[in-house]
Amino acid sequence: LLKFFRAPFFEIWRDIVGDRLEHYLSQSIKQDELGVSIKNTILSLSNASKKIAKSLAKNGLPENQLGTQVGDINSDGDTQKALDLIADEKIVTALKNKNVVAYFSEEQESALLLHPEGNLIVCADPLDGSSNIDNNTSVGTIFSILPRKTEVFEAEQLLRDALQSGINQLASGFFVYGPQTSLILTTGKGAAAFLLDKEEFFKMEWEPNLPTKASQFAINMSNMRFWSQRTRSYIQSCLDGTEGTFAKNYNMRWCGSLVADAWRIFREGGIFLYPEDKRDNYNEGRLRLVYEANPLSFLVEQAGGRATDGTTDILNIQPGSLHQRVPLIFGSEEEVIKYESLNK
Ligand code: F6P
Ligand code: MN
Repeated sequence: LLKFFRAPFFEIWRDIVGDRLEHYLSQSIKQDELGVSIKNTILSLSNASKKIAKSLAKNGLPENQLGTQVGDINSDGDTQKALDLIADEKIVTALKNKNVVAYFSEEQESALLLHPEGNLIVCADPLDGSSNIDNNTSVGTIFSILPRKTEVFEAEQLLRDALQSGINQLASGFFVYGPQTSLILTTGKGAAAFLLDKEEFFKMEWEPNLPTKASQFAINMSNMRFWSQRTRSYIQSCLDGTEGTFAKNYNMRWCGSLVADAWRIFREGGIFLYPEDKRDNYNEGRLRLVYEANPLSFLVEQAGGRATDGTTDILNIQPGSLHQRVPLIFGSEEEVIKYESLNK
């Protein structure tokens, strides 16, 4: 009988006093003008994520073919799916408060100017992993929040503000639409995880904290013949297991959806690699610095991990252009350091 009553009791208790996202943001960010803007913007993004999760849940019904290719190819060379554009629109609508001056999206060529008075820049990958939509696999939304620097309300100047190195981020995070709709977030004071329940994001008891050591790697092995010497040696040593130089056995996971791989690595540790390779247009890897690598790397470092392009910490790279790609290797510190120390 006790067992029967315990679960509902905890739910009611949590609904009353539980750590909602809004409460967490009020506590973890100084509530000055900039802080209130950051809080409102994260809440706006969380509202967009609830709507995206709902759209996604209906994918495949006759009137909702969301994995269908709609546009040609986005500014990054990926095919645009209906849900990519829906997700983008929901974010734009949600950001219509007074805090954001310009929004930069993987799905759009250039800046979308929003509010002349806004003090923040938002960059986002509205639907990461969208090639998986029809496979009922986890996909997500990745975002980065940067400070506005220029006084001018003009696209060229604001683009310069979007091209700040990742170290300047005020907050970043990613939502995952999977069995659970969830969020991993940083505002620069560690990382925290949240779950959506009854239209509210509640803080999870578990806190993202990357173990230094790990023995799981994530890489698309089908590209092996195109890899650099360094990537080959690193993966070969993992495959050699206890008989190799790393002297331990590894397991491999590859979801083909960055947010899903990242969530697992935050939970269990491990290393993720999308390095440069010899295919056409992959000399800087596949992932985008501004929309994907920067926000994830900020989170990784806040959770005690490490993120690099092989030579430079991701957060110290000065972006040259909005849609620029970057080799991305992140995860448990010891594994990332092993990769960095191998000859190129
Ligand atoms: O956004 C790009 C992306 O979809 C990531 O989510 C994922 O990690 C990667 O591409 C998968 O790439 P590939 O299809 O080359 O394995
Ligand atoms: Mn993506």
